[in-house]
Amino acid sequence: MKIIIDTDPGQDDAIAILLALASPELDVLGITAVAGNVPLALTEKNARIVSELAARPDIKVFAGCDAPLLRPLVTAEHVHGRTGLDGPTLPDPQMPLQSMHAVDFIVDTLRAEAPQSVTLCPLGPLTNIAMALRKAPDIAARIERIVLMGGAYFEVGNITPAAEFNIYVDPEAAEIVFRSGAPITVLPLDATHKAMVTPARNEAFRAMGTRVGQAVAEMTDFYERFDREKYGADGAPLHDPTVIAWCLRPDLFSGREINVEIETRSELTRGMTVADWWGVTDRSRNALFIGDLDAEGFFDLLTERLGRYAA
Ligand code: RIB
Ligand code: CA
Repeated sequence: MKIIIDTDPGQDDAIAILLALASPELDVLGITAVAGNVPLALTEKNARIVSELAARPDIKVFAGCDAPLLRPLVTAEHVHGRTGLDGPTLPDPQMPLQSMHAVDFIVDTLRAEAPQSVTLCPLGPLTNIAMALRKAPDIAARIERIVLMGGAYFEVGNITPAAEFNIYVDPEAAEIVFRSGAPITVLPLDATHKAMVTPARNEAFRAMGTRVGQAVAEMTDFYERFDREKYGADGAPLHDPTVIAWCLRPDLFSGREINVEIETRSELTRGMTVADWWGVTDRSRNALFIGDLDAEGFFDLLTERLGRYAA
Protein backbone atom coordinates (compact mmCIF):
# COMPACT_ATOMS: atom_id res chain seq x y z
CA MET A 1 0.00 0.00 0.00
CA LYS A 2 1.64 3.23 -1.23
CA ILE A 3 1.08 6.17 1.10
CA ILE A 4 2.12 9.80 1.54
CA ILE A 5 2.01 11.01 5.16
CA ASP A 6 1.14 14.71 5.46
CA THR A 7 1.91 15.81 8.98
CA ASP A 8 2.53 18.49 11.64
CA PRO A 9 4.65 16.61 14.23
CA GLY A 10 3.47 16.68 17.10
CA GLN A 11 4.07 13.71 19.38
CA ASP A 12 1.06 11.77 18.12
CA ASP A 13 2.12 12.42 14.52
CA ALA A 14 5.55 11.07 15.43
CA ILE A 15 4.08 7.83 16.75
CA ALA A 16 1.99 7.51 13.58
CA ILE A 17 5.12 7.89 11.45
CA LEU A 18 6.95 5.29 13.57
CA LEU A 19 4.02 2.89 13.18
CA ALA A 20 4.00 3.37 9.40
CA LEU A 21 7.76 2.90 9.02
CA ALA A 22 7.61 -0.32 11.07
CA SER A 23 4.88 -1.79 8.88
CA PRO A 24 6.06 -3.64 5.77
CA GLU A 25 2.56 -3.49 4.29
CA LEU A 26 3.11 0.23 3.74
CA ASP A 27 5.39 1.87 1.18
CA VAL A 28 5.90 5.41 2.50
CA LEU A 29 6.61 7.35 -0.71
CA GLY A 30 7.32 10.53 1.24
CA ILE A 31 6.50 12.62 4.28
CA THR A 32 5.15 16.13 3.65
CA ALA A 33 5.23 18.64 6.48
CA VAL A 34 2.61 21.32 7.06
CA ALA A 35 2.28 24.12 9.61
CA GLY A 36 -0.04 23.13 12.45
CA ASN A 37 0.91 22.06 15.94
CA VAL A 38 4.03 24.20 15.57
CA PRO A 39 5.34 26.35 12.68
CA LEU A 40 6.55 24.70 9.47
CA ALA A 41 10.25 25.17 10.27
CA LEU A 42 9.69 22.87 13.26
CA THR A 43 7.26 20.38 11.70
CA GLU A 44 9.63 19.67 8.79
CA LYS A 45 12.56 19.35 11.21
CA ASN A 46 10.53 17.06 13.48
CA ALA A 47 9.53 14.86 10.54
CA ARG A 48 13.24 14.34 9.83
CA ILE A 49 14.04 13.77 13.52
CA VAL A 50 11.40 11.03 13.66
CA SER A 51 12.55 9.45 10.39
CA GLU A 52 16.07 9.21 11.85
CA LEU A 53 14.70 7.85 15.14
CA ALA A 54 13.18 5.11 12.95
CA ALA A 55 16.66 4.61 11.38
CA ARG A 56 15.18 5.69 8.03
CA PRO A 57 17.32 8.63 6.84
CA ASP A 58 16.40 7.54 3.31
CA ILE A 59 12.82 8.77 3.71
CA LYS A 60 12.05 11.83 1.59
CA VAL A 61 10.78 14.69 3.73
CA PHE A 62 9.31 17.78 2.09
CA ALA A 63 8.27 21.15 3.52
CA GLY A 64 4.86 22.41 2.45
CA CYS A 65 2.62 25.31 3.36
CA ASP A 66 3.63 27.53 6.26
CA ALA A 67 0.16 28.99 6.81
CA PRO A 68 -3.51 28.15 6.15
CA LEU A 69 -5.06 29.17 2.81
CA LEU A 70 -6.79 32.30 4.08
CA ARG A 71 -6.36 32.58 7.82
CA PRO A 72 -3.47 33.28 10.20
CA LEU A 73 -1.81 30.14 11.57
CA VAL A 74 -3.01 28.83 14.92
CA THR A 75 -0.52 26.54 16.68
CA ALA A 76 -0.74 24.22 19.71
CA GLU A 77 2.45 24.62 21.72
CA HIS A 78 0.26 24.38 24.84
CA VAL A 79 -0.25 20.72 23.95
CA HIS A 80 2.94 19.73 22.15
CA GLY A 81 5.51 22.06 23.74
CA ARG A 82 7.67 24.73 22.12
CA THR A 83 9.52 22.26 19.84
CA GLY A 84 6.43 20.24 18.96
CA LEU A 85 8.26 17.11 20.13
CA ASP A 86 8.80 17.96 23.79
CA GLY A 87 9.43 14.97 26.04
CA PRO A 88 12.46 13.03 24.76
CA THR A 89 15.80 14.60 23.92
CA LEU A 90 16.39 13.70 20.28
CA PRO A 91 19.35 14.77 18.13
CA ASP A 92 18.96 17.40 15.42
CA PRO A 93 18.47 15.78 12.00
CA GLN A 94 21.39 15.04 9.69
CA MET A 95 19.26 13.86 6.76
CA PRO A 96 18.42 16.50 4.14
CA LEU A 97 15.11 18.22 3.59
CA GLN A 98 14.02 17.72 -0.02
CA SER A 99 14.20 20.91 -2.09
CA MET A 100 10.88 20.29 -3.89
CA HIS A 101 7.80 21.88 -2.32
CA ALA A 102 5.53 19.32 -0.64
CA VAL A 103 2.55 20.33 -2.79
CA ASP A 104 4.54 19.66 -5.97
CA PHE A 105 5.68 16.30 -4.58
CA ILE A 106 2.06 15.32 -3.90
CA VAL A 107 0.94 16.38 -7.40
CA ASP A 108 3.91 14.84 -9.22
CA THR A 109 3.64 11.57 -7.31
CA LEU A 110 -0.09 11.17 -7.94
CA ARG A 111 0.47 11.85 -11.65
CA ALA A 112 3.45 9.48 -11.87
CA GLU A 113 1.98 6.55 -9.95
CA ALA A 114 -0.82 4.39 -11.35
CA PRO A 115 -4.32 5.85 -10.87
CA GLN A 116 -5.91 4.96 -7.51
CA SER A 117 -2.65 3.47 -6.23
CA VAL A 118 -1.61 6.12 -3.69
CA THR A 119 -3.33 6.79 -0.36
CA LEU A 120 -2.90 10.20 1.28
CA CYS A 121 -2.65 10.16 5.09
CA PRO A 122 -3.08 13.73 6.40
CA LEU A 123 -2.41 14.04 10.13
CA GLY A 124 -2.60 17.83 10.46
CA PRO A 125 -4.34 20.82 8.86
CA LEU A 126 -5.31 20.04 5.25
CA THR A 127 -3.52 23.00 3.65
CA ASN A 128 -1.04 20.97 1.56
CA ILE A 129 -3.73 18.61 0.30
CA ALA A 130 -6.07 21.45 -0.63
CA MET A 131 -3.30 23.35 -2.41
CA ALA A 132 -2.43 20.22 -4.41
CA LEU A 133 -6.09 19.77 -5.40
CA ARG A 134 -6.34 23.45 -6.38
CA LYS A 135 -3.09 23.39 -8.36
CA ALA A 136 -3.90 20.10 -10.11
CA PRO A 137 -7.62 19.26 -10.05
CA ASP A 138 -6.86 16.17 -12.16
CA ILE A 139 -5.29 14.45 -9.15
CA ALA A 140 -8.63 14.08 -7.33
CA ALA A 141 -9.54 11.16 -9.58
CA ARG A 142 -6.09 9.60 -9.12
CA ILE A 143 -6.14 9.43 -5.31
CA GLU A 144 -6.87 5.94 -4.00
CA ARG A 145 -8.22 7.33 -0.70
CA ILE A 146 -7.61 10.15 1.76
CA VAL A 147 -7.41 8.73 5.30
CA LEU A 148 -7.28 11.71 7.63
CA MET A 149 -7.33 12.53 11.31
CA GLY A 150 -9.69 15.41 11.91
CA GLY A 151 -13.13 16.55 12.90
CA ALA A 152 -15.57 15.48 15.55
CA TYR A 153 -19.30 15.00 15.94
CA PHE A 154 -20.55 13.35 19.12
CA GLU A 155 -17.24 14.18 20.81
CA VAL A 156 -17.51 17.88 19.83
CA GLY A 157 -14.41 20.10 19.57
CA ASN A 158 -11.03 20.18 21.29
CA ILE A 159 -9.70 23.60 20.24
CA THR A 160 -13.13 25.29 20.44
CA PRO A 161 -16.45 23.91 21.71
CA ALA A 162 -17.36 23.19 18.06
CA ALA A 163 -14.16 22.28 16.21
CA GLU A 164 -11.26 19.84 16.23
CA PHE A 165 -7.80 21.41 15.79
CA ASN A 166 -6.78 20.13 12.33
CA ILE A 167 -10.01 21.30 10.71
CA TYR A 168 -10.19 24.48 12.80
CA VAL A 169 -6.74 25.68 11.66
CA ASP A 170 -7.68 25.60 7.95
CA PRO A 171 -11.42 25.13 7.41
CA GLU A 172 -11.25 26.35 3.80
CA ALA A 173 -8.69 23.65 3.03
CA ALA A 174 -10.88 21.05 4.69
CA GLU A 175 -13.86 22.20 2.60
CA ILE A 176 -11.83 21.71 -0.61
CA VAL A 177 -10.78 18.23 0.49
CA PHE A 178 -14.25 17.08 1.56
CA ARG A 179 -15.75 18.38 -1.73
CA SER A 180 -12.96 16.90 -3.91
CA GLY A 181 -14.80 13.69 -4.76
CA ALA A 182 -11.84 11.57 -3.60
CA PRO A 183 -12.80 8.67 -1.30
CA ILE A 184 -12.30 9.80 2.30
CA THR A 185 -11.99 8.01 5.63
CA VAL A 186 -12.24 10.30 8.64
CA LEU A 187 -10.72 9.41 12.02
CA PRO A 188 -12.45 12.04 14.21
CA LEU A 189 -12.18 12.65 17.95
CA ASP A 190 -15.19 10.32 18.26
CA ALA A 191 -12.78 7.49 17.45
CA THR A 192 -9.44 8.81 18.67
CA HIS A 193 -10.73 9.60 22.15
CA LYS A 194 -11.26 5.86 22.51
CA ALA A 195 -7.56 5.22 21.82
CA MET A 196 -6.26 6.33 25.20
CA VAL A 197 -2.66 5.68 26.20
CA THR A 198 -3.20 4.52 29.77
CA PRO A 199 -0.20 4.28 32.12
CA ALA A 200 -0.07 0.50 31.57
CA ARG A 201 -0.02 0.94 27.81
CA ASN A 202 2.70 3.57 28.05
CA GLU A 203 4.76 1.32 30.31
CA ALA A 204 4.60 -1.34 27.58
CA PHE A 205 6.41 1.12 25.29
CA ARG A 206 9.05 1.92 27.95
CA ALA A 207 9.53 -1.77 28.73
CA MET A 208 10.67 -2.39 25.15
CA GLY A 209 14.11 -1.15 26.24
CA THR A 210 14.70 0.41 22.82
CA ARG A 211 15.36 4.00 21.68
CA VAL A 212 11.98 4.06 19.96
CA GLY A 213 10.11 2.60 22.93
CA GLN A 214 11.77 5.04 25.34
CA ALA A 215 11.16 8.04 23.06
CA VAL A 216 7.49 7.12 22.56
CA ALA A 217 7.00 6.73 26.32
CA GLU A 218 8.64 10.12 26.97
CA MET A 219 6.60 11.80 24.21
CA THR A 220 3.44 10.40 25.76
CA ASP A 221 4.47 11.42 29.28
CA PHE A 222 4.74 15.01 28.05
CA TYR A 223 1.80 15.06 25.64
CA GLU A 224 -0.76 13.44 27.94
CA ARG A 225 -0.65 16.15 30.63
CA PHE A 226 -2.93 18.39 28.51
CA ASP A 227 -5.70 15.80 28.23
CA ARG A 228 -5.32 14.77 31.86
CA GLU A 229 -5.89 18.36 33.00
CA LYS A 230 -8.66 19.08 30.50
CA TYR A 231 -10.64 15.85 30.55
CA GLY A 232 -9.46 14.31 33.81
CA ALA A 233 -8.54 11.37 31.61
CA ASP A 234 -6.25 8.51 32.59
CA GLY A 235 -3.86 9.25 29.73
CA ALA A 236 -3.87 10.83 26.29
CA PRO A 237 -5.74 9.99 23.09
CA LEU A 238 -3.36 8.79 20.37
CA HIS A 239 -5.09 10.65 17.54
CA ASP A 240 -2.83 10.32 14.49
CA PRO A 241 -1.68 6.68 14.80
CA THR A 242 -5.32 5.64 14.27
CA VAL A 243 -4.96 6.81 10.64
CA ILE A 244 -2.09 4.38 10.00
CA ALA A 245 -3.82 1.65 12.01
CA TRP A 246 -6.96 2.04 9.85
CA CYS A 247 -4.79 1.57 6.73
CA LEU A 248 -3.30 -1.59 8.24
CA ARG A 249 -6.36 -3.07 9.98
CA PRO A 250 -9.63 -1.41 8.99
CA ASP A 251 -11.40 -4.31 10.71
CA LEU A 252 -10.46 -2.74 14.06
CA PHE A 253 -12.70 0.24 13.26
CA SER A 254 -16.37 0.90 12.53
CA GLY A 255 -18.18 3.86 11.02
CA ARG A 256 -20.74 5.04 8.49
CA GLU A 257 -20.64 6.48 4.97
CA ILE A 258 -22.21 9.86 5.59
CA ASN A 259 -22.20 13.46 4.45
CA VAL A 260 -19.63 15.71 6.12
CA GLU A 261 -19.58 19.44 5.48
CA ILE A 262 -17.24 22.04 6.97
CA GLU A 263 -18.32 25.30 8.60
CA THR A 264 -16.20 28.10 7.09
CA ARG A 265 -18.28 31.24 7.61
CA SER A 266 -19.34 31.37 11.26
CA GLU A 267 -16.64 32.54 13.66
CA LEU A 268 -18.49 30.80 16.50
CA THR A 269 -18.46 27.36 14.84
CA ARG A 270 -15.59 27.78 12.36
CA GLY A 271 -14.07 24.43 11.46
CA MET A 272 -16.94 22.34 12.73
CA THR A 273 -17.41 19.06 10.84
CA VAL A 274 -21.17 18.94 10.33
CA ALA A 275 -21.57 15.17 10.12
CA ASP A 276 -24.96 13.86 8.98
CA TRP A 277 -24.62 10.70 11.09
CA TRP A 278 -28.41 10.13 11.20
CA GLY A 279 -28.97 10.74 7.48
CA VAL A 280 -31.40 13.62 7.93
CA THR A 281 -30.31 15.31 4.70
CA ASP A 282 -30.00 14.18 1.11
CA ARG A 283 -26.49 15.58 0.82
CA SER A 284 -23.96 13.28 -0.84
CA ARG A 285 -22.29 10.71 1.36
CA ASN A 286 -18.71 11.90 0.87
CA ALA A 287 -16.89 10.25 3.79
CA LEU A 288 -16.53 7.09 5.84
CA PHE A 289 -16.82 8.66 9.31
CA ILE A 290 -15.30 6.36 11.95
CA GLY A 291 -17.22 6.25 15.22
CA ASP A 292 -15.60 3.40 17.11
CA LEU A 293 -12.50 1.25 17.37
CA ASP A 294 -11.24 -1.85 19.16
CA ALA A 295 -8.84 -0.09 21.55
CA GLU A 296 -7.16 -3.28 22.75
CA GLY A 297 -6.65 -4.43 19.19
CA PHE A 298 -5.29 -1.02 18.24
CA PHE A 299 -2.74 -0.99 21.07
CA ASP A 300 -1.77 -4.61 20.43
CA LEU A 301 -1.02 -3.65 16.82
CA LEU A 302 0.83 -0.46 17.79
CA THR A 303 2.89 -2.17 20.50
CA GLU A 304 3.78 -5.14 18.31
CA ARG A 305 4.90 -2.87 15.46
CA LEU A 306 6.87 -0.43 17.62
CA GLY A 307 8.44 -3.49 19.23
CA ARG A 308 10.04 -4.33 15.88
CA TYR A 309 12.52 -1.46 16.17
CA ALA A 310 15.99 -2.58 17.24
CA ALA A 311 17.47 -1.48 20.53
O1 RIB B 1 -6.93 17.43 17.29
C1 RIB B 1 -5.89 16.47 17.24
C2 RIB B 1 -5.01 16.72 16.06
O2 RIB B 1 -4.42 18.02 16.17
C3 RIB B 1 -3.82 15.74 15.98
O3 RIB B 1 -3.47 15.55 14.62
C4 RIB B 1 -2.72 16.49 16.67
O4 RIB B 1 -1.41 16.11 16.21
C5 RIB B 1 -3.00 17.90 16.25
O5 RIB B 1 -2.42 18.09 14.96
CA1 CA C 1 -1.19 16.03 13.86
